[in-house]
Amino acid sequence: VENFQSRDLRIHNVLAQLIILPCQLLSSSLHNVFFLFLWLNYLAFPRVKTNKEPYTPREVHLQVTHSLPAQKKEVFDSLQSWARDNLLNLLKPVEKSWQPQDFLPEPSSDGFYDEVKELRERAKEIPDEYFVCLVGDMVTEEALPTYQTMLNTLDGVRDETGASPTTWAVWTRAWTAEENRHGDLLNKYMYLTGRVDMKQIEKTIQYLIGSGMVIIIFYFW
Ligand SMILES: [Fe+2]
Repeated sequence: VENFQSRDLRIHNVLAQLIILPCQLLSSSLHNVFFLFLWLNYLAFPRVKTNKEPYTPREVHLQVTHSLPAQKKEVFDSLQSWARDNLLNLLKPVEKSWQPQDFLPEPSSDGFYDEVKELRERAKEIPDEYFVCLVGDMVTEEALPTYQTMLNTLDGVRDETGASPTTWAVWTRAWTAEENRHGDLLNKYMYLTGRVDMKQIEKTIQYLIGSGMVIIIFYFW
């Protein structure tokens, strides 16, 4: 704990007891002594100070807690089987999906350092404008927790348990898992190129996820 002096605390405590004890003896009302005790302790004990300000998001968005009226939520419930047959089959099985490592130097191979060197040589030729674009892409991809959270605010399709078997919830989790590869690949690639200021990007991602997001939807009911 910063700025905390235990010696000061002990001195204050002794002084407090010197005042409290005579008061307890002299007072005829136990009730009053109790409150006097609380008050003197409040004065006597130094407040624990830290230099840390409580974390506050940079932005406070418009707060909408329900996205659908009950009758419209029923529509989504009735579409569960349609979504199972027409949406879930669009998801690629994990074993058939590419992974970031398919495009990156293999860290367990003896040729890792040569592969990194080659990657850096090739990246030298890429104009800055391309990296500006890639950084924008990467920051967007890395804020995936925000998108999954946002999807789970939506009535009728949210994942009620975090592992719900409803079609909408299965879709949201699998889509998130697929998407997660994009940020991973961009992050590792850009780190290896040495062409971008990774710490600034990482701070931006932390700010972005901490801020959250809302989608303004206009309802006609
Ligand atoms: Fe993506």
